[in-house]
Amino acid sequence: MSKPKIVVVGSSNTDMIVKSPHIPAPGETVLGGIFATAAGGKGANQAVAAARAGGEVVFVARVGDDMFGAQAIAGFEREGIDCSKIIRDPANASGVALIMVDDQGQNSISVALGANNALSPSDVDAASDAIAAADMLVVQLEIPIATVERAVQLAKRANVPVLLDPAPAPEVALPSSILDCVTIIKPNETEAQRLTGQAVTDASSAEKAARELLNGGVETAIVTLGRSGSVVVPRSGAAFVVDSRQVAAVDATAAGDAYSGALAVALAEGMTLATAVDFATRAAALSVRKLGAQPSLATRDEIDAFQV
Ligand code: RIB
Repeated sequence: MSKPKIVVVGSSNTDMIVKSPHIPAPGETVLGGIFATAAGGKGANQAVAAARAGGEVVFVARVGDDMFGAQAIAGFEREGIDCSKIIRDPANASGVALIMVDDQGQNSISVALGANNALSPSDVDAASDAIAAADMLVVQLEIPIATVERAVQLAKRANVPVLLDPAPAPEVALPSSILDCVTIIKPNETEAQRLTGQAVTDASSAEKAARELLNGGVETAIVTLGRSGSVVVPRSGAAFVVDSRQVAAVDATAAGDAYSGALAVALAEGMTLATAVDFATRAAALSVRKLGAQPSLATRDEIDAFQV
């Protein structure tokens, strides 16, 4: 079987990570941490997750003309990702994320977007041929919203399905000019709440929020609820829940990215929605067992073999 073609339009960051007993409160200093750097950024993580899960990936992004940008591109090349649509930006530094991770694997992230914030609609236009030839377009919200809008509109025009991971949680509901072009949206509970204005606390409230997203124009909404699994609501057919896989968490960073990258590949390969969501759930579970974003992302063999 030939590999599905996945285009990811999104961010690339270098993550500076401190794992310590707990995440400091404002004004507090916590000792006893360990430090690591890792390749990150929601777009880049999803591109790498998709490549390791079996996709042929083109990544559309902007990095600075600096050491971090060079390291990021070298990493993508090692993954076999097509980097021809990545722009080296002389005017902006590469994106950086400061990440604190506690003993339970929960994190707190602050991002300096740098070059990610300069990824423009015309940069996406320059990748329109790749988008039109894709089996799936994957986007997130760590780049300007006008750029997201252009990417999804190009995909819709070419009949290419779009997976939108609406992370980080947007300040306001997304415009219909975006939602109308989205095939699958995959918010977590916080993002679903932000997108719909409704409290999302359990499967029933997640389904209600998902239905509101369907009313907004998307075809399938998948609300992830961490340990409570994924609530999957297709426009046609009944809603269902896919259970999570319980693993001891070292670092939850990029679990959502692992999920989205794997989901895109699974759906583009033609798996059923239920099988694809379970595949994505296994990829996400594997990712929380290691520290760091891209170092934690699973290969296809690991996902296929994972049976917890
Ligand atoms: O989703 C995890 C990612 O969020 C991290 O890699 C960090 O760079 C931030 O973008």
